[in-house]
Amino acid sequence: MINGNRISINVDSHKKHIDPMIYSNFIEHLGECIHNGLWTYDPVNVPLVEGNPFLVGVRKDILESVKDLKVSVLRAFGGCYSDVYHWKDAIGPRESRKIVKNKQWARFPISLYKGLGPKIENQFGTDEFCHFCEAIGAEPYLNINYSTGTPEEAAQWVEYCNGSINTEYGALRAKNGREKPYNVKFWGIANEIWGRQEVGRERHPENYAKRYLLFAKAMREKDSNIKLVAVGWVKSAWNQAVLEGIGEEWVDYLSVHKYVPLPLKLSTIVGKKRKTTEESYYSLMTAARLIEKVINDTWEDITTILGKNSHVRIAFDEWGVWEKMRQIVKTNYYLQDGLCTSDILLTFQKMSDKCPMANWAQLINCIGTIQTDPAGLILTPVYLAFKFFVDHTYNNLITSLDIECETFDSNKFGCIPKTNNVPYIECNATINNEGDKLSIMLINKHFTNDLTVELEINRFVPKEQGNIIELNSQSPFDYNTIENRNKIKLKKKEIDNIKPRMMFKLPAHSVMVLKLNKK
Ligand code: AHR
Repeated sequence: MINGNRISINVDSHKKHIDPMIYSNFIEHLGECIHNGLWTYDPVNVPLVEGNPFLVGVRKDILESVKDLKVSVLRAFGGCYSDVYHWKDAIGPRESRKIVKNKQWARFPISLYKGLGPKIENQFGTDEFCHFCEAIGAEPYLNINYSTGTPEEAAQWVEYCNGSINTEYGALRAKNGREKPYNVKFWGIANEIWGRQEVGRERHPENYAKRYLLFAKAMREKDSNIKLVAVGWVKSAWNQAVLEGIGEEWVDYLSVHKYVPLPLKLSTIVGKKRKTTEESYYSLMTAARLIEKVINDTWEDITTILGKNSHVRIAFDEWGVWEKMRQIVKTNYYLQDGLCTSDILLTFQKMSDKCPMANWAQLINCIGTIQTDPAGLILTPVYLAFKFFVDHTYNNLITSLDIECETFDSNKFGCIPKTNNVPYIECNATINNEGDKLSIMLINKHFTNDLTVELEINRFVPKEQGNIIELNSQSPFDYNTIENRNKIKLKKKEIDNIKPRMMFKLPAHSVMVLKLNKK
């Protein structure tokens, strides 16, 4: 039995750098992510971006809210779709671009998933994507077509993006309106290629590694500075064989994906209504442990094959809360999903040395942080959770932090296993480079109870005035709607009685950050 909740932080302890690439995102030609999400086809009642010919189909409200999210790396155009994507269909004058069937996503039964695989008019192609990344301040990350494409096609794409205007494809880029190379640094070679969901499924990791090398060599010939991402899995045998076959020199990141609580039984993923019980809530509140396990297991695979000094790191380039298939057309998120996202982001902060890149999947509409409608946007609690981190935490993690509190047990929910002894309170403390601004991020996972915690801050004397920012609502299943877009929003208030040791109330099912300045 714990006698009261306590958190003790030693600010003087070792700091771990947090890579901002853990706040990355992803877009795909899937559902309404790009089609009528990022790029507008139907009329809307909001202004579109002006002044950049490459962004004329992008809504101003989207550009601004994505910019606010400080997305570090943006991955495109799939996902599974990358295996049917031919980049040359989506460059040059927009009126003459090839309109294609969505050969990846239109394979699924339309009656169940209307709108899943929209026709691709290719108005948002490489130039539009790279301009969008520049406008929001994100590093672009492109996934090449491994299955129905060729190493030559991929290498030409690298040259189109990064080559000088004296190269064939660099000259084509200039002709299309952009002289300066885009310098796309991150390139993925295939996506989830081990799975049934992929058009060009590859069952044998050895075969994948062999063909991967053909792509890697052709692409690096065009630009030797690019960083290459190979397809990993939550299976060690796959990861180890892939790394063995590719070798240290030709890979920089091994990618892994995990959605929670997918996979559920097929019968439970159709339909619209998500589970909203105390039991399912508590299961989601343990999902971060599963993510932690995936990172540790993948890291083990990397170091087993390439050794402890390998430069290869993990790119967790798809993750998110996803329960029903329909959510990949358009969805909305509950407060609980914002809590779960925050909890997982705390884990990514702690593990950024092994896994410096993590991309929420996806940015808009399709399992998206932002939902669009003709009159405006819904900034979901997932969006707000990311905002919380990018605006209110720093890039140095304080490693000595002890939490003492009551725990809960949870049940299996989809891929989230039954878990015991999970603390109700989670906390990370981060500090700026100068060492004079401290941020303490706290989650109270209790379904119903506010929790009082004794907070002890050592080796940092705070000024009495500071700020508290809170993500909370009456019910964990509250969400923002068109009628009430700001039902859930980040609430900021000033406090003026901060002491190095103090009692603090954390409301039930909430995330809270305490921002302090050094005296
Ligand atoms: O993000 C949706 C899909 O989920 C991606 O295309 C695929 O990589 C994953 O299975």
